[in-house]
Amino acid sequence: MQIMILPDSAAIGVWAAGHIMRRLADRRLRVLGVATGSSPLPVYDALALRLPRSGGRNVRADPESDKDARAEASLRSLTAFALDEYVGISPDRPESYHAVIRGEVTEKLGLDPARVHVPDGTAGDLEKACREYEQLIAEAGGVDLQILGIGATGHLGFNEPSSSFSSRTRVKTLAPQTRRDNARFFASEEQVPLHCVTQGLGTIMEASELLLVAYGEHKAPAVARAVEGPLTSMCPASIIQWHQDAVVLLDEAAASQLE
Ligand code: F6R
Repeated sequence: MQIMILPDSAAIGVWAAGHIMRRLADRRLRVLGVATGSSPLPVYDALALRLPRSGGRNVRADPESDKDARAEASLRSLTAFALDEYVGISPDRPESYHAVIRGEVTEKLGLDPARVHVPDGTAGDLEKACREYEQLIAEAGGVDLQILGIGATGHLGFNEPSSSFSSRTRVKTLAPQTRRDNARFFASEEQVPLHCVTQGLGTIMEASELLLVAYGEHKAPAVARAVEGPLTSMCPASIIQWHQDAVVLLDEAAASQLE
């Protein structure tokens, strides 16, 4: 695991976007795992800034620019999988992760909507929908690079404390702390759904590379437990210590409780 401490969230976004563009240029990134919430937004913003505004092809002479052009082309043909979705929130509602991914990822980066997948939290048969989601990821060849945030509870995706390290996509109950934290996206805390569909920790760990982003003092305790604490399902994010290719991008505040 590599920990990088950068000045602020904008710098984190720029570093992550540069990393993603390098992977695209090297053709090592065809399937991107995307997270929602506030943490990855600077990454998507910085990635969008790397794209030509015209949407047209830039003709460039030097090899570095050729690399950029290759990365841009690969970005537009990316397949993407979101980590999670609330149960019972229609994809049309702005609070749904379908809507967030549509606005912050698909449209911002100019991805093909048919290649951007979000778990179905409104399916009549949720268990079947979860199995099908796993199947889709497998058929795409697995996730090459997974962007992650971390919750105050230490969750990854919506894998709350006590989630099995080998769990797959399934329905979970949101922790009261998570519902309080996410109330800012809803009219009131009561409106935050009790349940969600989330990729499991086992699913997330199968991504070839993990990129965890956290900034702000409020993330410091969870970051310290995840990165330096014992490997325990009571801090699900601690499983990243076990991943062979994980990068943790922090600002000073989020890193402030590290040894
Ligand atoms: C969202 C997700 C969650 C968030 C976490 C942090 O798709 O997977 O794990 O990353 O709740 O949320 P923010 O970034 O809003 O603090």
